[in-house]
Amino acid sequence: VVWTAEERVAIQEVFSRLDFESVGLETLTRCLTVYPWTQRYFGSFGNLYSAEAIMANPKVKAHGVVVLKGLEMAFNNMDNIKATFASLSELHSEKLQVDPGNFQLLGDCLTVVIASRMRTEFTAEIQAAWQKFLAVVIAALRRQYY
Ligand code: HEM
Repeated sequence: VVWTAEERVAIQEVFSRLDFESVGLETLTRCLTVYPWTQRYFGSFGNLYSAEAIMANPKVKAHGVVVLKGLEMAFNNMDNIKATFASLSELHSEKLQVDPGNFQLLGDCLTVVIASRMRTEFTAEIQAAWQKFLAVVIAALRRQYY
């Protein structure tokens, strides 16, 4: 994957604006609410009965930070995302058995949250770079599936 200087700046801009706790929590809450079948992987997280319950769930909050730190790791290794995510891909495939279609759904929820925070500053150019970044991350996560 080739990144232009503008794309790197755009993705850096998005990351610099992300408050991991609140953005992670809102992203997971949206995903678990809008696509309720994604709840099946989080059986150990306790009460996920409503959007309010999910928002108030400390395990969801903690996991939101974990997911965003994972994305930050990809950002810090932008020229080597595939290798960086090899073990994470294996974990989601073999151990967690997450249906890989769900990666896109979670990514879309994150994009919605970012757009709602950045508003007009989430320009078409920044969105384009961001979606390319997510596409590369998702392809890396799907890699160990067979
Ligand atoms: C765990 C990242 C998508 C379900 C994790 C971990 C990371 C991560 C960093 C912790 C791994 C560890 O403990 O070593 C990501 C990223 C995603 C993504 C970057 C996409 C952008 C998903 C999706 C699902 C999912 C779509 C299910 C719908 C899980 C589950 C765990 C996990 C169930 C274990 C949670 C626990 O028991 O603590 N993920 N993930 N992930 N992920 Fe993902």
